[in-house]
Amino acid sequence: MNLKTQASVTVNKIETSRINEVDFNNLSFGDEFTDYMFECDYRAGTWSNPTIKPFGPLSISPAAKVFHYGQAVFEGMKAYKDVDGKIWLFRPEDNFNRINHSSKRLAIPAFPKNFFFEGLETMLKLDSDWIKPGMGNSLYIRPFVIATQCGVSASPSDEYKFMILFSPAQAYYTGDVKVVIAEHFSRSADGGVGAAKAAGNYAAQFYPTNLAKEKGFHQVIWTDSNEHNYLEEAGTMNVFFRVNDTLLTAPISDRILDGITRRSVIALAKRDGIKVEERRVSISEITEASINGTLKEIFGTGTAAVISPVSDFSYKEQVYHLPKSTEGFATRFKKELTEIQYNQIEDTFGWRYLVE
Ligand code: COI
Repeated sequence: MNLKTQASVTVNKIETSRINEVDFNNLSFGDEFTDYMFECDYRAGTWSNPTIKPFGPLSISPAAKVFHYGQAVFEGMKAYKDVDGKIWLFRPEDNFNRINHSSKRLAIPAFPKNFFFEGLETMLKLDSDWIKPGMGNSLYIRPFVIATQCGVSASPSDEYKFMILFSPAQAYYTGDVKVVIAEHFSRSADGGVGAAKAAGNYAAQFYPTNLAKEKGFHQVIWTDSNEHNYLEEAGTMNVFFRVNDTLLTAPISDRILDGITRRSVIALAKRDGIKVEERRVSISEITEASINGTLKEIFGTGTAAVISPVSDFSYKEQVYHLPKSTEGFATRFKKELTEIQYNQIEDTFGWRYLVE
């Protein structure tokens, strides 16, 4: 059956849902996908024919530029269901703006806002049963764009595919997060693509992160590529350091992803009168604070990771332990943020977005 929505999103309905094949109590992040996917192609200078169809394989030429030059960007968002069955998004316009910002850096044409929201909201309603209510359950939303033009000349594609996938999710990290501070490898450099959610930014982290994993750590905290002296961000999260009662985090630059959870935590902290310093944070400042006992917390923020406390960090083969606490800033901000996201408390910031 084919349906048309207001922005002319075509819907090709599934015959039977796969939902009963999924064990919602044992989800591993990003492994299961819902019944539908959204797809829209860019050809001859325009995005056209936005379509929601059953989730399944694509047919793309092996010469498509995405396979050769990595011209691809993505986003990460989540949908939440409240106890009344209403579906909520969190600051979705920020994700929409950021994917187009990332696209610009990768010479990809901007995606239209009406297609984005019509496609996303229509699909959320079709896949509504995949969003389980209750704290900790969510639907991870993965919009992405790939270069589909066939040809291996090293130049921007003139054809693209914009897609949205949904994956039912629970926690990204289930226990303590242990990190290694980068001494040799870099995630990004001045003038590079660090601020974009470019697919290649993540691929480039896999090898150094594997080395960290071999030593029992989960992620790398990247440092500035010039001197490896300043702490920047972790693989899937922005990073905050609490020294006494002050929060420190690297400032947004063309090396750092402008995280939406990061921005939200800063707003919550400032509202509560907590001093937040967005400035370069040196490694020596943090190792010294750890030794003299003023380093109270390190935590990462991100859509997938939400707010994840770091339990240990390693630098120059020395491991530093963070005090264990359930009453720190990380716990407090996570509680308020998730209560806003699940429509459990008033949203004085206007961040919540109802899917109707
Ligand atoms: C997100 O938090 O959405 C991310 O981008 C992390 C992802 C790479 C798993």
